[in-house]
Amino acid sequence: MKLLILFASPRPRGNTAQLLEKITEVFDESVEITRFDLYGMDLKSCIACRRCQKVTDSFHCVHDDDMQEIFDAALESDLILFATPIYSFYCTPPMKIVMDRLVYGMCKYYGETMGPSLWAGKTIALLSTFGYPEEKASDLLVEGLRRYAKHNKLNFLGAYGERQRSYKEPFMNAEVEKRARAFAEKLMAYDDNLN
Ligand SMILES: Cc1cc2nc3c(=O)[nH]c(=O)nc-3n(C[C@H](O)[C@H](O)[C@H](O)COP(=O)(O)O)c2cc1C
Repeated sequence: MKLLILFASPRPRGNTAQLLEKITEVFDESVEITRFDLYGMDLKSCIACRRCQKVTDSFHCVHDDDMQEIFDAALESDLILFATPIYSFYCTPPMKIVMDRLVYGMCKYYGETMGPSLWAGKTIALLSTFGYPEEKASDLLVEGLRRYAKHNKLNFLGAYGERQRSYKEPFMNAEVEKRARAFAEKLMAYDDNLN
């Protein structure tokens, strides 16, 4: 299984990174990982020029930045894991940039004639961390990604997140680790878990 991880925390050893580390420890050799740390990349915002829509069989964009690498890796992958802290009830800015660039770059729905979704059939999943109770923290992003998947003709495998309860206690503990490991198992069996 080819797994693409899009990691979008500005903190390389923060909560999301710690969770991701526990998850990747579980993977066996059947999982081939490509990871991008979005905060270190040159990623420009979509400017809605719709030049991407003039080329219907591949990615095309007026920006000359690192997005082409992500686009190629997404097309190569089976499963894409969006890993982000929750910021202002949604994902962090570079994750949003990537989501915008992917939906227009991949889906040729917005030109003169209706075209395809180039990444139709791929599977996506969400890993998030947050400070508020889960139902008031990641709920909007989970719903947003579910809708994003449908619109892009992707499968939505599901979401897993953990709350940082206090700055005084460590984020990672045995219970969190157990849940992270269970999510890793779900990712490895991604094609059994699709409905
Ligand atoms: C600018 C900013 C905005 C945040 N907004 C939210 C929010 O809307 N909801 C929430 O539950 N937590 C929010 N948080 C808390 C983070 O999501 C939480 O601390 C997360 O675990 C940080 O992940 P990291 O250590 O991987 O960067 C926010 C944190 C920052 C810095």
